[in-house]
Amino acid sequence: SVKRFTAPQIAARKRDTPIVSLTAYTAPMAALIDEHAELILVGDSLGMVVHGLPSTIGVTLEMMILHGQAVMRGSHRAMVVVDMPFGSYEESPEQAFRNAARVMQETGCGGVKLEGGARMAETVAFLTSRGIPVMGHVGLTPQATHVMGGFKTQGRDEDSWPAHIDDARAIADAGAFCVVVEGVMAELANRITSAIQVPTIGIGASAQCDGQILVIDDMLGMSARVPRFVRKFGNAGEICADAIAEYAAAVRDRSFPAPEQTYR
Ligand code: KIV
Ligand code: NA
Repeated sequence: SVKRFTAPQIAARKRDTPIVSLTAYTAPMAALIDEHAELILVGDSLGMVVHGLPSTIGVTLEMMILHGQAVMRGSHRAMVVVDMPFGSYEESPEQAFRNAARVMQETGCGGVKLEGGARMAETVAFLTSRGIPVMGHVGLTPQATHVMGGFKTQGRDEDSWPAHIDDARAIADAGAFCVVVEGVMAELANRITSAIQVPTIGIGASAQCDGQILVIDDMLGMSARVPRFVRKFGNAGEICADAIAEYAAAVRDRSFPAPEQTYR
């Protein structure tokens, strides 16, 4: 069996060749990504992407564990990180540890991710010092959209940069092995990348980050609407729609099943 990438190995990739990361929610997609990526995130984006929820707010720990288990079964090489969902970690370091430990025990994943900067530093230190690798997430933090008033690119006002840089530094100093930097002005992403000693993983950030991540369905062209920062590397949505339409036509005209698909 091949050993998986570890948190220290990811952390050591600072200013090295870019870290390749994608989200995954299912075993077969995890198997495809595992061939090419060092890090697979079971993102709470699964609430929208897989379950049709309006936001990530309704995602539960049970959902994260179920998909975390599937992604672990489908992969054997990449480090798998599971998102802590809204409400499962913000209350206290103790609450965060209890729930993160459950995620680690029930999925076998290599670490967890949680959103937030300076205010989460104490929790990041509490978890990492007790054996749970933590990935940070700063900039645009989707679990806070109700407070922020929607999905807004962060750092448009240069006056806000010091606070964002302090947030990233606080969780890096608290022991996070890498930090997702989402939805920020490119120059701010570069400043954050220079300011911290662990890799930044950009999404809607900058090509100068130490790695990149995208939501798998978005980059495959499976999502109806995507943010500007997504590049569609495929058109899986079209491929699926065409195949389903052809199937429907073949059923209706009785050309399916043909002799090749029939037992005689
Ligand atoms: O939930 C998610 O998919 C994420 C990534 C976009 C970073 O948090
Ligand atoms: Na997330």
